[in-house]
Amino acid sequence: MIIATGLDELRTARLLLDPEVGLVPTMGYLHEGHLSLIRKAKAECRSVVVSIFVNPTQFAPTEDLAKYPRDLERDLKLIEPIGVDLVWNPTPEIMYPSGYQTWVEVDALTKRLEGAMRPTHFKGVTTVVAKLFNAVQPQRAYFGQKDAQQAAVIRRMTRDLDFPVEIVVCPIVREPDGLAMSSRNKYLEGDDRKAALVLFRALSAAKDAYQAGERDAEVLRRKMKEVIQAEPRAQMQYVSCADYDSLEELESVSGKTLLSMAVLIGKTRLIDNFVLE
Ligand code: PAF
Repeated sequence: MIIATGLDELRTARLLLDPEVGLVPTMGYLHEGHLSLIRKAKAECRSVVVSIFVNPTQFAPTEDLAKYPRDLERDLKLIEPIGVDLVWNPTPEIMYPSGYQTWVEVDALTKRLEGAMRPTHFKGVTTVVAKLFNAVQPQRAYFGQKDAQQAAVIRRMTRDLDFPVEIVVCPIVREPDGLAMSSRNKYLEGDDRKAALVLFRALSAAKDAYQAGERDAEVLRRKMKEVIQAEPRAQMQYVSCADYDSLEELESVSGKTLLSMAVLIGKTRLIDNFVLE
């Protein structure tokens, strides 16, 4: 497994890879969710590149960039046995050298849900993912359904900018009790860890209602809200029942639909979602 830092180092190593490269972009502190993406890339592509970069431009000044968990040694130990060919771990100075001023922005899709709460977030995500695509030149790129809006935004950017990259979105990996895996789960301790299950419970309540025949989107949103409001440690930021691709809020559910939410548990902000097919 080659570990590259500089852009020239990355490009030289990339040239030696068998074409049909699968890229798994990550911010490190890997968990089973990331590993499932890497395993899928390994099963589908002749070469696999993993990028590990805590991208500063997708964090607002008030967010947790400085305390975002980092442990490169641990990450490398986790991915080496999977048979990854190349790891790229650039520094912020390599990705954003002094004088940097170019951005990639997706319009309406980034104004809703997460974008409404975190107005500068997706501009940072799309910019860094476009830079990763340019540097690595993958044929496929793997993202988790956990960040459902991120996946929708990246699909849109890839189509709009004609990147010759197939975007593969992989299912959420959950703890046995239902909590969606996230690097931020590390911040959940004691009662907060238990309270965090409220997201899964709320999504399950809406899904049960849908499976029982409920198609009124407002009723499904209300079901999710009621469950969250009953948990004293939870502070709801949003719940949504929206079209899977456009993320526009629905009045009634017919096609592929995304139930999603963001909830604060203590100081930890968690997101989760279910897809209704
Ligand atoms: O999902 C993430 O970990 C990040 O947003 C990504 C896609 C690696 C871009 O920094």
